[in-house]
Amino acid sequence: MALAALTRCVVLIGFMGAGKSTVGRALASRLGWTFSDLDDVIESWQGKSVAAIFADQGEAGFRKMESAALHDVLARSHNKEHGGVLVALGGGAFVQPDNRAALERAGAITILLEAPIEELRRRCAAEGKVRPLAREEKTFAELFTARQNIYRLAQYRVETLNKSIDQVAAEIELMLAAANKPEVTQ
Ligand code: S3P
Repeated sequence: MALAALTRCVVLIGFMGAGKSTVGRALASRLGWTFSDLDDVIESWQGKSVAAIFADQGEAGFRKMESAALHDVLARSHNKEHGGVLVALGGGAFVQPDNRAALERAGAITILLEAPIEELRRRCAAEGKVRPLAREEKTFAELFTARQNIYRLAQYRVETLNKSIDQVAAEIELMLAAANKPEVTQ
């Protein structure tokens, strides 16, 4: 039985710069699954960037949209007849208890992408994308520390330091295949 028939929704979580979107795209293409990047969903709904949403509606406004977008993506993942859905969350989405409850209800598999803070900072700077919560080094570091315990509630963890995007994607693919094995042999 194909992996896709067993696991319908896999969610990548982790701090800013962890590689959720890039690894997510690579992994979805390896699996032949649909890929959704939650920030992209919000930006296309609102017709503006995450940075502009933070500026206009504040973080609280952004978090409401983020929850609505997550619920929508999860609802659509249930309606899919074939294949699975891979979702890259923004770094703060998993921190919200309601979002974690929605993921649990949906039976989503959660995978944490990890890297040391210096590496996360380096990647964010290299990407050049405006991240409102990465502007100040102090805020970035405080958030990183404050979120660790919550991120560790993920079902799986993958270290990404010194690995290519494809290496990380391949590692997760193997992990998912192993996780599905008992059902495959039934
Ligand atoms: C945020 C992370 C961002 C984006 C927003 C808030 C956070 O996504 O959702 O700027 O709270 O960590 P990335 O993790 O993709 O950068």
